[in-house]
Amino acid sequence: MAQVVSVKNTGLRGVTVADTKISFIDGEKGVLIYRGYRIEDLAEHSTFMEVAHLLLNGNLPEQKESEAFEKQVREAREIPEYLRESLRKWPKDAKPMDVLQASVPLLAMADPDLLGDGREANARMAVRLIARLPAVVAAWHRIRNRLEPLPPDRDLSHAANFLYQLHGKKPDEETARYLDICLILHADHTFNASTFACREVVSTRAHMYAGVAAGIGALSGSLHGGANAEVMKMLLELESEKDIPGWVKGRLEKGERIMGMGHAVYKTMDPRAKYLKQMAKGLAEKAGEKWHDLSSQVEKAGLEEFRRRGKTEIQPNVDFYSAPVYHMMGIPRDLMTPIFAISRVSGWCSHVIEEKFAEAQEKPALYRPQAEYVGNYCGLLGCEYEPMDRRQKRQ
Ligand SMILES: CC(C)(COP(=O)(O)OP(=O)(O)OC[C@H]1O[C@@H](n2cnc3c(N)ncnc32)[C@H](O)[C@@H]1OP(=O)(O)O)[C@@H](O)C(=O)NCCC(=O)NCCS
Repeated sequence: MAQVVSVKNTGLRGVTVADTKISFIDGEKGVLIYRGYRIEDLAEHSTFMEVAHLLLNGNLPEQKESEAFEKQVREAREIPEYLRESLRKWPKDAKPMDVLQASVPLLAMADPDLLGDGREANARMAVRLIARLPAVVAAWHRIRNRLEPLPPDRDLSHAANFLYQLHGKKPDEETARYLDICLILHADHTFNASTFACREVVSTRAHMYAGVAAGIGALSGSLHGGANAEVMKMLLELESEKDIPGWVKGRLEKGERIMGMGHAVYKTMDPRAKYLKQMAKGLAEKAGEKWHDLSSQVEKAGLEEFRRRGKTEIQPNVDFYSAPVYHMMGIPRDLMTPIFAISRVSGWCSHVIEEKFAEAQEKPALYRPQAEYVGNYCGLLGCEYEPMDRRQKRQ
């Protein structure tokens, strides 16, 4: 019998629930590692395809392995016609994260491996999910703008093909590389809320698609992946603001949050944010845009205000600078969180496989926490059922 421990109201911070070999964070030092490799090295030298292979299989692929993996992904990009047909019928103002989440079970229905419970079948499902989520996001964006979805271009890299299917124009090399780096930086992050949601769902022996749909739902919230869109909203609001420190102070005084700052694990600057900040600077300088300067001013004012309040650990996270970066790439605000999802799906699928195939001592058979019941209670036999005409509202 497990010892009963209460971790109520902690949001499970600091509670270890399983072992993982996929990624590691040192929140004090600002270190993030995927399968032993530092995020800085991967962002500098690797590609998203290589990183997805690393997360899923545990090793950086050799040349032949790399080509074979990328070929599988490129060949799996097409989404089923019935899904495109469904997308055409959905309300044009539907939120892209809802569309993406709703599309996942529709993709599941076309997957020949759905009922296979082996590691190989799950690896093939992961490839299809990584290949197809970007195609769904791009198809939805075109359909809602009354444009025809475009077929994928097998000659283009993962990031370049997404931008092509989205905008109908092949991106320049630098933009495609920047997006590829963004995908690397967002690919995994240990037991964050959406990854835990995926793992919790598949711990019931549900299939990978059920887990990924849950992950998308969790990611959509503004305290998680939805924060990048909220950062952009904040920056757009600040475009003509003269007194940014005053605005930041006022916002905190009202008890509101500065989106894109603070993290449940990092107590220093998120290492991914450093990269995104550099990228925002590069893009802004190239295009003569204000977004990097504006974001830096908000960062500076936020850091000063948090320091004054004794909260020096609240610093920019991954969402803070990814918002201006995507904005300068011509990505609409409501597609910023879906882009997070098309990267994180590689981490989710890796965690699903780990959850399904880990040794028994590395994870529970099924996640099943409990809550303290603080509701109505009339004793062990329960309250007396009252017919409608005798019912009175209880406080
Ligand atoms: C991500 C986040 C939920 C992590 O929070 P946490 O440190 O685990 O825990 P809490 O949410 O309880 O915050 C702790 C305290 O810091 C404050 N705080 C944390 N982040 C803040 C922010 N961005 N703006 C203002 N206050 C913040 C909270 O209000 C709370 O203050 P209190 O102790 O006076 O009540 C939080 O930093 C946040 O909401 N950030 C903005 C949303 C965001 O960018 N999310 C993406 C994360 S990658």
